[in-house]
Amino acid sequence: QKVDMELEAIEKGGYEHFMLKEIFEQPRSIGDCLRGRLNAQEGHLHLGGIHDYINKIKNADRILIIACGTSWHAGLVAEYIFEEFCRIPVEVEYASEFRYRNPVVGEKDVVIAISQSGETADTLAAIELAKSKGATILGVCNVVGSSIPRATHAGSYTHAGPEIGVASTKAFTAQISVLTMMALMIANKKGTLKESVYRNLLIELEAVPDKVAKCLDLNAQIELIAEKYKDASNCLYLGRGYNFPVALEGALKLKEISYIHAEGYPAAEMKHGPIALIDENMPVVFIATKDGSYEKIVSNIQEVKARKGQVIAVVTEGDTEIAAMADHIIEVPAAHEALMPLISVIPLQLLSYHIAVMRGCNVDQPRNLAKSVTVE
Ligand code: G6P
Repeated sequence: QKVDMELEAIEKGGYEHFMLKEIFEQPRSIGDCLRGRLNAQEGHLHLGGIHDYINKIKNADRILIIACGTSWHAGLVAEYIFEEFCRIPVEVEYASEFRYRNPVVGEKDVVIAISQSGETADTLAAIELAKSKGATILGVCNVVGSSIPRATHAGSYTHAGPEIGVASTKAFTAQISVLTMMALMIANKKGTLKESVYRNLLIELEAVPDKVAKCLDLNAQIELIAEKYKDASNCLYLGRGYNFPVALEGALKLKEISYIHAEGYPAAEMKHGPIALIDENMPVVFIATKDGSYEKIVSNIQEVKARKGQVIAVVTEGDTEIAAMADHIIEVPAAHEALMPLISVIPLQLLSYHIAVMRGCNVDQPRNLAKSVTVE
């Protein structure tokens, strides 16, 4: 028993929980994921695992992304990125829904299955179904040699290292990193991105680990915000565009480890329902970094403030407009909007972690949840 506890302490590397260790590992895990694949200075980007399938993907009628949980959120980010960069239509599906209906899938479809564990039963079954209909299946997995990579035609590992905390953190950012590289590689081959834009995106991607490290410096500030909201019974997360899936992921992180009821929504959908919930007791987390929908989200923040909601906003460094309205701001480094999810999600991971710890929850092993869901 004592030996086990000491071993675990060593594995946690000085952190109180695996989740916190894994959050803090992200500059390195994203770096590990990019290493050997991306060299921005030389304009080099190569994912060896999908090399033989580049033409297939480039000429696909459609990309279908299949996943569950946090991996599904990474898929939503990828949808925006693939459509923007590659001009290929993308659909993102919950594996459990896909497999139990009668989906239209054909030989010109490329399926990307995303899974940290590589063992999720629904995702595996969805792959088999799509395969039987002739689609090409690619995997984006973290656990080497797991069932999903073995069931796919090709794929790329995320190389985030073992993730122990049930709430996925570093696997999520590694998944987005791989999917971004895939999209950039295809876009470059397809000629859907101007060379200068492509080169700039490579530089931006390479800069992500350092920007993630800057977000981690905000830990103490985020802990203070957590202290203020730890007793909330509900929480709303709102974002637009590339930050919409981040809102979903932020809400999922909070509910799964702190048991606070949290919902993520596209900010513009607020007026179709969630706005009815807003009063002085409702914390609303906005992911409102500077991007194409900035002005729109500013008005959403005004709408929440007009109803006395408590606004916590993740903004781009130097933002003064939102700072003047929000109750709390968390400033993250500027980045290309397509890469922002890799950065804007970090404060949300930390926020849910601290709130859960303050509520006395078992953050690494939340009640009723499993790290990998191998049952249907
Ligand atoms: C479980 C885990 C989540 C994970 C999901 C999908 O619900 O608790 O963290 O996102 O399964 O798992 P996968 O291994 O397929 O990514």
